Amino acid sequence: MRIVYSASEMQAIANKYREWGKRIGFVPTMGYLHEGHLSLVRQAKQDNDVVFVSIFVNPLQFAPNEDLDKYPRDIERDESLLNKEGVDFVFYPSVEDMYPDGFQTYVEVDKLTKVLEGKSRPTHFRGVTTVVAKLFNIAKPHRAYFGKKDAQQLIVIKRMVKDLNMDIEIIGMPIVRESDGLALSSRNKYLNQKEREQAVCLYKALMKAKELIETGQRDADVIKEEMKKVIEGYPLAKIDYIDINSLSTLEQLKQVKEGDTLVSLAVFLGSTRLIDNMWF
Ligand code: PAJ
Repeated sequence: MRIVYSASEMQAIANKYREWGKRIGFVPTMGYLHEGHLSLVRQAKQDNDVVFVSIFVNPLQFAPNEDLDKYPRDIERDESLLNKEGVDFVFYPSVEDMYPDGFQTYVEVDKLTKVLEGKSRPTHFRGVTTVVAKLFNIAKPHRAYFGKKDAQQLIVIKRMVKDLNMDIEIIGMPIVRESDGLALSSRNKYLNQKEREQAVCLYKALMKAKELIETGQRDADVIKEEMKKVIEGYPLAKIDYIDINSLSTLEQLKQVKEGDTLVSLAVFLGSTRLIDNMWF
């Protein structure tokens, strides 16, 4: 496995593999890797001839009041995990290489980014789409892998790829969870023991929605209300939003639509903001 620090070098490597007719699989990450990230890497290994993983904590997708500076980092551990998975190249650029002086070009997806996470974090997706577009131009993948954990991110990236005719297949991968149901996230590290125990409330609320939908409930307001009650049973949890939206347009739904429904929520445990979702 090789670590590549510069965008131009990474591009040159991608060009070589393309010349040789190899299929490039790509997994963009912000590091501090866990089994969720590694499940993407394993799928990329299976589907492609060569696998590139990027590790870059992208300042552009953090608002000034967010956790950019304290976002967890452990590059040595990440490298050893990726090496074990048989990853071929890790792209680990500096902020200066990604955003040199004079940088002023952004990629913005419009309506899909105005709701859910975009409402709570208005500048977030512009940062995500800009960095992912750059990473795609650097790694030149045939396929790129994203987790359903960040459902809106996946939907927004798919839209960007379609709208800008990027010749890349976007693969959405299932959410990997702890044994109690908590979705794996680098941010789980921020939770103290009590918060960690109560963080299961997101999953419990989603399971409540699942149970209601499976027993025939279709009214979104009723489902959201029941989910709210679940969360309210956990004193350390504070709801940011609970929503039910169309998976294709992200428009709010009044009725659950089989095959096109995203139930999602964001909840604070202390000062840590966690997100989770299920697809129906
Ligand atoms: P990061 O949070 O590091 O996540 C990298 C990828 O791992 C994302 O596609 C995310 O959805 C996926 N992932 C995280 N937790 C997961 C879980 N429990 N199960 C399955 N997949 C999971 O998302 C980002 O980084 C950034 O926004 C990025 C796309 C790299 C752009 O900066």
